Amino acid sequence: MKRALTSVLMLAASLVTAVATAREITLPADTSTLRVSELPGYAIARHKCGICHSADYISYQAPAMNQAQWTAEMLKMQHSYGAPIDEDETRLIGAYLAVSYGSADKDDASVVALSALAQKAEPAPGEAGEIDVQALLVSNTCLACHAIENKVVGPSFREVAARYRSEAHASSRLAESIRAGGTGKWGPAAMPPMSALTAAQAQALAQFVLAQ
Ligand code: HEC
Ligand code: HEC
Repeated sequence: MKRALTSVLMLAASLVTAVATAREITLPADTSTLRVSELPGYAIARHKCGICHSADYISYQAPAMNQAQWTAEMLKMQHSYGAPIDEDETRLIGAYLAVSYGSADKDDASVVALSALAQKAEPAPGEAGEIDVQALLVSNTCLACHAIENKVVGPSFREVAARYRSEAHASSRLAESIRAGGTGKWGPAAMPPMSALTAAQAQALAQFVLAQ
């Protein structure tokens, strides 16, 4: 009886091992999502880097890029491709990418200094009364169809600015047309109505477009 029990236990044990071994499937490294980090640049990148392409683009960069190189890469993303990030954000994302994908260390003085600055810059809750145009561009997927310099589905914001800038009431008219959507002014493609925007938000977006 004791012997039978032992062998049952042994069988059970080997089954457990077999199951455990079978579970050890090596998945290919997932390069389509951003590597998690506590650095402030990670949260910004999660919010803003997935608009136009997946994180694969980041994984395919040379592994030894340093903080300056990653920051330069983010400036290119901002200036040439119209990524909705400001100067501070290019530096924060640059630091995050250099630590998580490149040759920098999270304890590097230049990385630590940036993170400290970011904490200070964080507006106190309730203080953010201003309309955050960049956040609106992201949350309303404007940048899926528009870029600053290049035509995507819709006209580039620069072309739009050039066409309307000198008109009287340009920003109110554009704000209306952002909320209404439409087709035919720039070509056959249609812009969906953005009717969930408040008048003030549409106005802020229109002013942003006209400033390009
Ligand atoms: C407005 C669209 C847009 C946004 C937002 C954007 N990118 Fe890009 N990104 C591009 C385009 C366009 C390319 C070039 C694609 C190509 O060459 O096929 C690119 C290429 C890249 C590359 C490859 C290197 C290169 O220069 O071609 C990296 C790395 C990259 N992006 C990282 C990022 C990161 C990090 C963010 C977040 C800050 C970001 N991108 C946000 C449009 C964007
Ligand atoms: C699904 C794609 C798409 C999205 C999303 C989109 N647009 Fe457009 N947008 C277009 C197209 C296409 C046109 C050109 C329409 C036309 O020819 O009349 C356009 C036109 C415009 C114009 C010029 C309007 C005019 O009167 O000439 C502005 C400004 C504009 N979009 C801003 C925005 C903003 C801001 C957002 C986000 C709130 C946004 N778009 C989201 C596709 C899009």
